[in-house]
Amino acid sequence: MTNDTMITVQQTARPDGFPTPGDFAFVESPVPAPEPGTALVENLQWSVDPYHREAMDSDLLWTLNSPMEGRTLGRVLDSRDPSLRPGDLVLHRKGWRTHSLVSRGEVRPVPDFGPGVPLAAHLSILGGTGLSAYVGLTRIARLQPGEDLFVSAAAGGVGTAAGRIARLLGAGRLVGSAGSARKVAYLTEEIGFDAAFDYHEGPVTELLAKAAPEGLDAVLDGVGGAHLEASIASLREYGRIAWVGAVAQYHSLSTPPPAPRNLFDLVGKSIRLEGFLVRNHMDAQEELYDLAVPHLRSGALPLDVTEAKGFEHFVDAFLGMLSGENLGKMLVTA
Ligand SMILES: NC(=O)c1ccc[n+]([C@@H]2O[C@H](COP(=O)([O-])OP(=O)(O)OC[C@H]3O[C@@H](n4cnc5c(N)ncnc54)[C@H](OP(=O)(O)O)[C@@H]3O)[C@@H](O)[C@H]2O)c1
Repeated sequence: MTNDTMITVQQTARPDGFPTPGDFAFVESPVPAPEPGTALVENLQWSVDPYHREAMDSDLLWTLNSPMEGRTLGRVLDSRDPSLRPGDLVLHRKGWRTHSLVSRGEVRPVPDFGPGVPLAAHLSILGGTGLSAYVGLTRIARLQPGEDLFVSAAAGGVGTAAGRIARLLGAGRLVGSAGSARKVAYLTEEIGFDAAFDYHEGPVTELLAKAAPEGLDAVLDGVGGAHLEASIASLREYGRIAWVGAVAQYHSLSTPPPAPRNLFDLVGKSIRLEGFLVRNHMDAQEELYDLAVPHLRSGALPLDVTEAKGFEHFVDAFLGMLSGENLGKMLVTA
C-alpha cells in the first residue's frame, strides 16, 4: 500500500450464524480528491459495534461489496469547503475505510477538552457508547441516588461506561454480569461493582438472585433472553428496565430466544420495560460532557478501552468484540 492508496473493508457474503473473516474483503483504491463542498479525511480511530452484526444480515443497511458505515474519528487532510480546514479533527459515520470524503453536514468537530481527555474518549465514554449508558440510566431507568442497579454485558463498552456513570450518579448496590472470570474481577476491582458473575456459571436468574439478594431497582440490559428474564425476576415493585440491546440473539435474528417466560410479572410488580435508541437522545450529549469531562480531566474517570492497533486488524477486532475479547469499548486505531 502507498500513501495514495485507500483501503475499504467490504462485506462480501451474508453470514449464517457467527460471521467469519471470509465474509469480508479489504479493497484497495486510489485516495479520492475532494470535490467542491467536501473534504478528504484520514481516519484515525474506528468504533466496531454489535449493531454492525445486525447490519450484516440486512440488504437495506449493508449492501454487499460496498463501503459500510460506523462511527469514526479522523483528521481533515485536504478540503474544498472553507469550514473544514486541513488538520481539523472530526467525527463522522463513514467508517470501515482508511479515508473518507465528507461534507460539512456529515461531520461534527471533535471538541477540544484539553489535556486529560484523550482522543479515544470521543468514541468511548464521550461517544455513542457512553451516551447509551448515560441515557439508559438517567432518562430511561431514571436511576436515583442510592438505588440498586444491574448491568448486563457489564465489561463491554456500554457496560463499563454504565458502571462508572452509575457510581458518579450515586447508585446503591451495583451488580454486573460478564463472560469470563477476568472480566468479573475487572468489574469489582477496577470499576467499583459490588458484585459480579460470569453468566456461563449457571442459570442467570439464580446467579443474579445470589448477587442481589435484596432485589434491584433498575436494570440496563444489553443482552436480552435469559438476562432479561433474570432482571424481571430480581426487580422490586416499580422497578425499571432500560433495554439497550440483545447481543445474545444478533447471530440468529430469525429465531430469537423465547420472550422472558416471566413477562407477565411486569404487571404484578408494576415494572416498566422500555427499549431505546441512543440516536433519539442526541440532545443529552452536552449533559454527558458536563458530567464526564471534569472527571476525565481529574483522572477520576479512567477510560475502559481495548485498542486493536492497525487497520489490517479491523475485521479481527469486530469479530473479537462479538465473541467477547474486549474489555471496555473495542476501538480500532490507525
Ligand atoms: N440502543 C442503542 O442505541 C445502542 C447503542 C449502543 C449499544 N447498544 C447495545 O448495547 C449492547 C452493548 O454494546 P457495546 O457496544 O457496549 O458492545 P460490547 O458490550 O462492548 O461488546 C459486546 C459484548 O457482548 C458480550 N456478548 C457476546 N455474546 C453474548 C451472549 N451470547 N450473551 C451475553 N453476552 C454476550 C461480549 O462480552 P462477554 O465476554 O461478557 O460475553 C462482548 O464483549 C449491545 O446489545 C448493543 O447492541 C445499543
